[in-house]
Amino acid sequence: MFRTVPTVALALLSAASTVLAADAPQCSLTQKCPEETPCCSQYGQCGVGAYCLGGCDPRMSFSLDACVPAPVCESRDLKMDSTDGIVDVGKYLGDPSTANWVAQGTPLSYQSNVLLTMPKNTAGTVLASTVYMWYGNIKAKIKTSQGAGVVTAFILLSDVKDEIDFEWVGTELDVAQTNYYFQGIPDYTHSANITGVSNTNDDFHTYEIQWTPDQIQWIVDGVVGRTQKKSDTWNETSNQWDYPQTPARVQLSIWPGGASTNAPGTVAWAGGPIDWDAAGKYYYATVGEVTMDCFQTNSPPGTNSGKSYTYTNAMGTNDTVDDGDSNTVLKSLLGTGLDMDKDYPSSASASQSNMEVIPGLSGGGVGTNGQAANQANGGGEASGSNGGSTGTGTGSSSSACTSGGFSQDCGSSSSNKNQGVRQERVLGASAFAALVAVAGMVWL
Ligand SMILES: *[C@@H]1O[C@H](CO)[C@@H](O)[C@H](O)[C@H]1NC(C)=O
Ligand SMILES: *[C@@H]1O[C@H](CO)[C@@H](O)[C@H](O)[C@H]1NC(C)=O
Ligand SMILES: *[C@@H]1O[C@H](CO)[C@@H](O)[C@H](O)[C@H]1NC(C)=O
Repeated sequence: MFRTVPTVALALLSAASTVLAADAPQCSLTQKCPEETPCCSQYGQCGVGAYCLGGCDPRMSFSLDACVPAPVCESRDLKMDSTDGIVDVGKYLGDPSTANWVAQGTPLSYQSNVLLTMPKNTAGTVLASTVYMWYGNIKAKIKTSQGAGVVTAFILLSDVKDEIDFEWVGTELDVAQTNYYFQGIPDYTHSANITGVSNTNDDFHTYEIQWTPDQIQWIVDGVVGRTQKKSDTWNETSNQWDYPQTPARVQLSIWPGGASTNAPGTVAWAGGPIDWDAAGKYYYATVGEVTMDCFQTNSPPGTNSGKSYTYTNAMGTNDTVDDGDSNTVLKSLLGTGLDMDKDYPSSASASQSNMEVIPGLSGGGVGTNGQAANQANGGGEASGSNGGSTGTGTGSSSSACTSGGFSQDCGSSSSNKNQGVRQERVLGASAFAALVAVAGMVWL
C-alpha cells in the first residue's frame, strides 16, 4: 500500500522548516549553497557554524569540504542517567570528547533517565550523537511516548541521508515500525513492522540496530525482528545498491507527526491529529542506557582508525568516504569547513549578525562574544531568534510557536520560559518537577 510518509529526516525537516529564516537560502541536490553560507544543514538551509557540523550534506553544500569533517566512531557506553553528556546545539563546536549528544529541544533528566520532551506546540526534542557510526551496533533502552500524532524515533542518519529507523506511533503501543532509506530517496516499500511488543510506553524495551556492510538487523529485547540483506537491495534503474552505507549519527527523537502543519498522509500515519490540549498533557519519551559498538574492520568500508570521515565525491556511496585525520573542531560558530578558525570580531558587522549559525533556528544571528546571539544577549529576547535554541524559547517568539518549530512551551504562560538544556543544568533534578507544575498533567 502506498504511504505518503516521509523519511524521519524529511519529516523533521517539515516540522522545522516553518521556523527557518525566511531569507536563508534553501539547498538541494540541484541547488547548492552559496560561498558565503556554504553549508547545507540536515534541514535543507544554508549557513555557517552548526550548519557545517553534524548533518551537513556535502552533496548540497558549496563544496564537499564546506562541511566540517565528521568525528569517527568510538565505542561508547552512553549513560543516560543525567543530561551531563548532552550539549546544546548552540554551544557545540565539533569536539566529540566534550559531549555524547547534541540537543535541539528539551531533554531533561528524571529518575536516572533522560526524557525527550515535547511541550505544547513544539517540534519536540532531537538528540544526535556527536560521533558517527560507519556500521556497528547501536542499542537503546526506550519507553516510547503515546497518544495520537506523537511519534518516537531511534534512527541512524548519515549526512547524505542514508537512514535506518525504528519508529513508534503513539496509538500503536505494540508495534515497532522499521524502515531504511538510501540517500533519502523516498521509497515506501522498505517499511516493516515488528509486532507483539508489550506496551512500548509502559515498558522499557531494548531496541538494537546491527548494521554491517552486508545486512541490517532490527532487534527487540535480543530477538531479531527483521533482517534486510544488502544483496536484496540492487536497483536496476540506478545501478546502485539502495542500501545505507555511509557514516551516520544516531538520533533519538520525539516529534509531532500529527501536527496540522504536516501533510495529511503523515498525520494519518502518525495516528491522527495531535491533541495539544488534552488536559494539559505533556508528551515525552524516556531513554535509558544507550550503547554504541563500532564496526571492526581493517579495510574500508567501516573503518574508524582515523579521526574523521570526509567525502571525496558527491556520489555519496561507501567508496567515497575517507577515514582520515582532519580536524573536526571549529573555533567559533562563524567557522565552516572552508575556514575552521574563523572567529568572532570584536564587534559584529551587520552582515555577520544576519548570518545563520544554528540550523532549525529562525534567524539566530551571531553574537560578539563567541556565542550564538541568543546567548550573547542574555537568553533570547531577540526576534524569535531562539526558536531552535534548545530550550531558551520564550513566549515572545510567536512565529515559532504556531508552527511546530523547535521552540518551547509556546502555548502556556511565561512562567515556563527557559526550560531546557541550559536551564536544566541549573535546575537539576527539579527541572522536571517545574515542568510538571507548569504543564499540568503528565503521564506517569
Ligand atoms: C505497520 O503498522 C502500522 C500501524 O499499525 C500500519 O499503519 C502500517 O501499515 C504497518 N506497516 C506495514 C508495512 O505493515
Ligand atoms: C560500496 O560502493 C560500491 C560502489 O557503489 C559498491 O560496488 C559496493 O558494493 C559498496 N559496498 C558496500 C559494502 O556497500
Ligand atoms: C531506483 O532508483 C531510482 C533513482 O534513484 C529511484 O527513483 C527508484 O525509486 C528506485 N527503485 C526502487 C525499486 O527502489
